[in-house]
Parts: sequence; structure tokens; C-alpha cells
Amino acid sequence: MSSYTDQQLAEMVRDECVHRSLYTDPEIFELEMERIWGRAWIYVGHESQIPEPGDYFTTEVARQPVILIRHRDGSFKVLFNRCAHKGSKVLENPSGNARFIRCGYHGWIYHTDGTCRTVTGGKAAYGNSDSGCPQPDLDLKPLPRAASYRGFVFASLAGDGPELEPWLGATAASFDNMADRSPEGELEVTGGVLRYRHDSNWKFFVENLNDMMHAMIAHQSSAQTAQRMGQQLFGDGQAPAAIQILSPFASDANFFEKMGIHAFDHGHSYSGGKISIHSAYSEIPEYTEAMEAAYGPERTREIFSLNRHNTVVYPSFTLKGAIQTIRVVKPVAVDETIIESWTFRLKGAPDELLRRSILYCNLINSSANLVGPDDHENYHRIQHGLKTQGDDWISMHRYLDADEPNDEGGRSATGSSDMVFRNQFKAWKAYMTGANGAGTGR
Ligand code: FES
Ligand code: FE
Repeated sequence: MSSYTDQQLAEMVRDECVHRSLYTDPEIFELEMERIWGRAWIYVGHESQIPEPGDYFTTEVARQPVILIRHRDGSFKVLFNRCAHKGSKVLENPSGNARFIRCGYHGWIYHTDGTCRTVTGGKAAYGNSDSGCPQPDLDLKPLPRAASYRGFVFASLAGDGPELEPWLGATAASFDNMADRSPEGELEVTGGVLRYRHDSNWKFFVENLNDMMHAMIAHQSSAQTAQRMGQQLFGDGQAPAAIQILSPFASDANFFEKMGIHAFDHGHSYSGGKISIHSAYSEIPEYTEAMEAAYGPERTREIFSLNRHNTVVYPSFTLKGAIQTIRVVKPVAVDETIIESWTFRLKGAPDELLRRSILYCNLINSSANLVGPDDHENYHRIQHGLKTQGDDWISMHRYLDADEPNDEGGRSATGSSDMVFRNQFKAWKAYMTGANGAGTGR
């Protein structure tokens, strides 16, 4: 039972600032797990991770262990990873293949759609009293809702609410663009996962991805060094991919303002669109040829012209279409978050594209490299700064009344506006107080 009333929660989010407790109070974090992560569509995994019947992938939705598994009829299932007998996790490995799922404790066996095949010792031995606890339901339980968009599987712990595609809204085009960059229109998860544990609240990460003010400051030393080295060593010639990837983070304020930010219902957003940090990478001619052979020159140009920087599908998922990488948010505690970074191969594209994506992930997302640690350090500092009594309120004032409606049903603003944060907290407030819809804009 929460000690916060809906009204108290609502009062913690003002139009242009939020109360620091939203990042520091464990009770609010638990309420978020129930009311935001328990209601929204949460990313589970990609269908390419389970191509064959029996293939499975284990993960978490709102801290609850779940299984994504391919059933023998070709459909996928998202099941709670909890034996119907005494509750043991039935699958422990991160991924694998199972013809049947057999619980390691007492040996109950399940089909790949979660239905029970065998109860050890026979079902008849399980008696019933009139105490109100009926004979156990013998199946592994599915999550109330699961759906896939372009192979990206989301599930919801809530039985009702908008369907996945309308809920994604304008961000669906980011998934489309990422998949359409494959000459075959399909993506495939490659390699393993880069997984980092941050000592900070999950919201810092989903805010930061479309924070266009921080890149040129927080990443100044690494990006400017790359720029300088590029100039010294290669002049106006073509610099290696690592230099091309790092240098734009040191672009001037004007560049980031022009990239712009765009906010939508349910807290979703993206930055860039026409231009982004990724738009100036050198072409790979074989790739352009493969794309033109598949789509024709005009459609290929159209696909390449969409350059969204980061898309945030609030609260759990972010993607970079032009780089074929996603980052997945897994809250652990009020001050602890796991971020996973996954890389995709564009089916039918030259390997050089995949090399670029892996390089990008290593250079930018990895915590053992040049850009990610800047962000991690800043999340750490904010989490600790907010422990002080310096001020109870966190500013989201920037360009308060300067956003405009866009033709995708959301609102757009100059890059350094705080509009995306205001929009996320508008959604936060709607989820947390049970208000209908999660609106757009200020
Ligand atoms: Fe799974 Fe007993 S807990 S069979
Ligand atoms: Fe950053």
C-alpha cells in the first residue's frame, strides 16, 4: 500500500520541474514498477533470437523473469519463468533450445507454448480442500499481452490498454527505417550483449538519449581529440570509421539545435530526423548498390534520408536505426539500472555495415571506451547530487513555450529544449496517477 496519494504524486511533477524524490525515493521506484512498468509495453527481445521451434531467450519484464520462446507452430510466446508447481524458474540459461521445458526441481514438463505435458507422479495425487486454494493450474502462465513489431517483441503485464502499434505511434517509423535499411527488409541480432550496471535511476538514461545539450560538453574531450587526430593524420581525406563516429559528438551547439527533438504520446520521442550525428558517415558503395537493387534508387534515397539519432520508446527501449543498435533499460532499484546494448545485422547488406555497427557500439555504448563512460559518470553524479538539500526541484524550464506541433501528431522543438523531459514526465504522471492517456508536449 503506497503512502503517496495520486494527488501527492501528481504534485511532484510541475509543468517545468520535477521533485527530486522521483529519482531517490525507493517507494516511488516500487510504484513505478507497478504503474509504469506494469502497464506499458516493455521490450522483451527480437524474433531473430528464436528462429527455430524450441529456441528460447530469458530476460525480465519489470524485474520479473520471463521466457521468449518459439513454439512448434511458428508463433512466439512470452511466458513467466515460474514453474506452476512451486514457482521455480524453469529456464536459467540466457538462451538455448528446448524440445520441452522440464523444471529442474520436481520434473514437471511443459510444451513450448507453456501448456503442461507431465506432472511428476500424476495430477490425481494433488488434493483439494475447501480453503480457497484450488488445485494448481498446471501451465506456465503467459504474460497478459505480447506482440511484435518488425520482429521486436514487446509484452505488457496489463491485460488492457492500447495495442502495440498505435502505442508506438510515430516511433514505429524508426523501427521501419531500421529494418528497411536491410536490402531484405529484415534484421538479425548478432553476437552477445554489452551489459552495464549503473548506480543511478533508470530515468536518467531515457532522458539523456535525447538531451542534445550534453554531447558537446560531456563528450568534449574524447570527440575533440578524435577531430584533432583526424585533421592531423588524414586532413581532408577520408578518416577511418572510428574517427567518423567520434568526431560529430564535438559538433557545435548550432548543429545540435538543428537536429531538433520530437515528442509524442506515452512519453516517446526521437532526436534528429533530417540530420543527425550519423548522417555524415562515408558511403559503402556495395551497400548502396544492394539497396538500389532491392528498392530502386528513389526509395533507397528516401530510406537513407531518414536520420533519426535516438528514438526512445518510453520507458524500456531505445534504438538507433542508422547504426542498427538498440539499448534496453532494466531497472533494478531506485539507484541501480542495467542497460543492455544489442547490435543487429542488416540481412543482405555487406559485412562492412555490421563492422561499423559493432565499432559504434564499442566506441560509444561500451563502458570500457570513449563516450559511454562520460554519460555513466554524469548519471552517477546526478544521483549523488540529488541527495543534497540544495533544492528539492529539478529544472525542465528550457524553451518552455517554444515547441510546435509537428505533422506526426507530436510536438517538435529546437535541440536543447527540455520538451522531451517535460513530455516524459507528463506520461509519468498519467501512468502513476491512473489518468487516461499520456499526453504530448509541455
Ligand atoms: Fe517445478 Fe516442483 S517447482 S516441478
Ligand atoms: Fe552522451
